[in-house]
Amino acid sequence: MRVGILTGGGDCPGLNAVIRAAAKTLFANGVDVLGFRDGYRGIIYQDYIPIDKRAISGLLHRGGTILGTNNRDNPFNFPVKTESGETQYRDVSDQLLENFHKLKLDTLIAIGGDGTLSIARELVDKGAKIIGVPKTIDNDLAATDQTFGFDTAVATATSALDKLHTTAESHHRVMVLEVMGRYAGWIALWSGIAGGADVILIPEIPWSLDSIIKKIQQRREEGKMFSVIVVAEGTPGPDGERVVRKRIKGSGDPLRLGGIGQVVGDLIEQATGIETRVTVLGHIQRGGSPSPLDRILATRFGVAAAELAISGQSGLMVALKGNKITAVPLHEATKKISLVPQDHQLVQAARSIGISFGD
Ligand code: F6P
Repeated sequence: MRVGILTGGGDCPGLNAVIRAAAKTLFANGVDVLGFRDGYRGIIYQDYIPIDKRAISGLLHRGGTILGTNNRDNPFNFPVKTESGETQYRDVSDQLLENFHKLKLDTLIAIGGDGTLSIARELVDKGAKIIGVPKTIDNDLAATDQTFGFDTAVATATSALDKLHTTAESHHRVMVLEVMGRYAGWIALWSGIAGGADVILIPEIPWSLDSIIKKIQQRREEGKMFSVIVVAEGTPGPDGERVVRKRIKGSGDPLRLGGIGQVVGDLIEQATGIETRVTVLGHIQRGGSPSPLDRILATRFGVAAAELAISGQSGLMVALKGNKITAVPLHEATKKISLVPQDHQLVQAARSIGISFGD
């Protein structure tokens, strides 16, 4: 039996731990393992490395992915250079499936977010055997209670908030931290609570400047001359529009968000005269060594995906439900993203301890 592994979409801490766990489980069952480079591109160009015991040695704590990844290339809309040097987008999924058979792959383990898993679902519909593994720091896949990478991103954002607190206090400033999360506010919500933010702005809860200022002034009246605010990158600005940093051609989701932190910071400074500084945490949230929790979740997912592949299953994504690893159909897994419900228990707990959501 031969199984391929690829990592697609934005990287996150724990990808290597999944590769390691899946490979170890597959080796133990005498399965041959190929690792495709840079997502689906690796199958299209037959660009792969044999995964053996040496290839997976020392991987557990290593951030990123030894296979490389990308969040642009979609085999159903793939950039191809024409003879005139122009780039055209074409459906190369048939070529991908041909290579799948040429390489005698029984099953592919695709580790990715909603983009990678949606492509996996379409390829399964065309006859490929694929098991999906959910990853993303955003934690926005509804079919699993948690994705690996999220815990590490929250730890990084929390540590940034801890550091911003000390400098905010010294200078009597407002500090704004913009964190990732795409259209969901999970990273902002969790790190905001863990890092003791005074205000948390998330895409799911509409905010007003007046309400933020009220919170800052109330703190000053209590003698707390500084405030720390965490803003999720997907939070709409005062005009109701998301702040877009970049548009990436050919990407499943071409919008790259960023800049709302500065918008909020400028508005606060203009309205209050209080010195305000803005930090954009950016890709630091995606880098580095996975937390113990992410290593464990990644390992459990890797083992489960390999076991499903060995038993000949396909069209499934491994998922965490409660404290159990289970499998859900890829069709279901890619249907909807998970946003923060406005009445989520964590939102309520945050409100109870005086955190403002700017509403
Ligand atoms: O989905 C993961 C994520 O890090 C988002 O939080 C962020 O919006 C996006 O990817 C950034 O993408 P890129 O790496 O292309 O800048």
